Amino acid sequence: MSASGKPWSPLLIDRIDRLSRVRENWWADGRRVALVPTMGALHDGHRALIRTARRLGEAVVVTIFVNPLQFLPGEDFDRYPRRLEADLRTCAAEHADLVFAPSRSEIYPADPEVTVCAGAMGRVLEGATRPGHFDGMLTVVLKLLHLVRPDIAVFGEKDGQQLALIRKMVTDLDVPVRIQSEPTVRDSDGLALSSRNAYLSDAERSSARALPRALFAGRDAAGGGRDAVLRAGRKALDDGAAASPPVELDYLTLVSPDTWTEIPPGMTGPAILAVAAKVGDTRLIDNLPLVLGPE
Ligand code: PAF
Repeated sequence: MSASGKPWSPLLIDRIDRLSRVRENWWADGRRVALVPTMGALHDGHRALIRTARRLGEAVVVTIFVNPLQFLPGEDFDRYPRRLEADLRTCAAEHADLVFAPSRSEIYPADPEVTVCAGAMGRVLEGATRPGHFDGMLTVVLKLLHLVRPDIAVFGEKDGQQLALIRKMVTDLDVPVRIQSEPTVRDSDGLALSSRNAYLSDAERSSARALPRALFAGRDAAGGGRDAVLRAGRKALDDGAAASPPVELDYLTLVSPDTWTEIPPGMTGPAILAVAAKVGDTRLIDNLPLVLGPE
């Protein structure tokens, strides 16, 4: 409910000029703006991001835009779930003030010639399997930051490499925004919430549980150091590989939280255990922070 007793209803805007006018008014009122960029198909993970934005901001903007630039040819751009009506209900339930859901031509009147280069961190792991993905992701995030000009932008830790790259872009390009992150939200079976989970059949979902199992087994072994973590994680993924349908591992690796470079043998302290695998046609990623003990 809003203060007037009417059901809460975010303003839905699809045009940049209208967004700018609302933004100017908020600016004049000195309101602290918090942004949650999404591609829609909102789930409880997004709800957590919007709640954080609500807590930190005086005006909350959710953007819903399936960004073609971050999909490679042959990926799931066309079949990516689009559910604007349901998303608006979610945004209303979480008291977002404004939903910006532009068309492709509003954001890209022409294919952009100048884009953001994600650099070395954008070429490893997800970037190695999906070349160009992070350049496209950063390009749209920078555009959204320019369009909304938020004080705070909130992102999920599930897309950990994405989050690290956004932080790096904001630092390297002096973007005046505070980046806030929220821990991954998991289903009761451990699977990290993702809009792409909708693609999984029951059998695929059951196999996919090997991913969180590997991460939690790895974290349990963290006191024993890097190799112990990787051994424990691989064991859970070997079980997944033997399941039907099988889990096809892309990578299981320990990386530094800031740079997403591989942790060398013998290193102790904070690290992220990251995993990516295919189950059926669906590519899943997940990660878990942990603290490495001596080997
Ligand atoms: O994480 C996502 O949903 C997208 O990569 C983002 C950050 C909204 C950019 O399109």
